[in-house]
Amino acid sequence: MKRLVVYYSLSGNTGEAAHKIAGELGADLLKLETVKPMPKSFAAQILTGGGQVLFGYVPKLRPFDKDPGGYDEIVLGSPIWNGKAVPALSAFLRDTAAAEKVTAVFFLSAGGGTEKGLAALAKKLPNLKTSVSLLDGKHEGSRDNEAKIEKFVGEIG
Ligand SMILES: Cc1cc2nc3c(=O)[nH]c(=O)nc-3n(C[C@H](O)[C@H](O)[C@H](O)COP(=O)(O)O)c2cc1C
Repeated sequence: MKRLVVYYSLSGNTGEAAHKIAGELGADLLKLETVKPMPKSFAAQILTGGGQVLFGYVPKLRPFDKDPGGYDEIVLGSPIWNGKAVPALSAFLRDTAAAEKVTAVFFLSAGGGTEKGLAALAKKLPNLKTSVSLLDGKHEGSRDNEAKIEKFVGEIG
């Protein structure tokens, strides 16, 4: 089983989880990057990113260094922006063949409210089997991240 962990990460939290998950699964990694960079300041990121999610903006992605077509299964990772997965994922999932390979999703957030994001994403993922909601390092609940990742990886099999 050849697996690819595909993720977007603006400030590194999702990237850190992606590396752990890929390491445990023996999977390759593909980081999604938008052609247009996000602003540097957090306030501007909130305005820009929040607005992008609200209006369903689909950004252009930079060329991939891995071909999702060469993998059997995809694990997808995203921060939560304005209650949902980031716009870069919408761009990635325009490739419906890749969307069909996604069996597992992990989210990073500051507050843990991922239900709305998962429900919206699940509509595009016909073979989704499992998901996990991980928390920012600043959040007290983040101490459970390790255990949640273990369980998640076990469910992927
Ligand atoms: C534009 C933007 C919107 C966000 N919206 C939410 C939100 O609605 N709920 C939440 O819990 N966290 C929200 N966050 C916090 C991020 O989900 C959280 O910091 C996450 O760990 C960031 O992952 P990253 O370091 O991989 O970019 C938001 C962050 C940004 C930049």
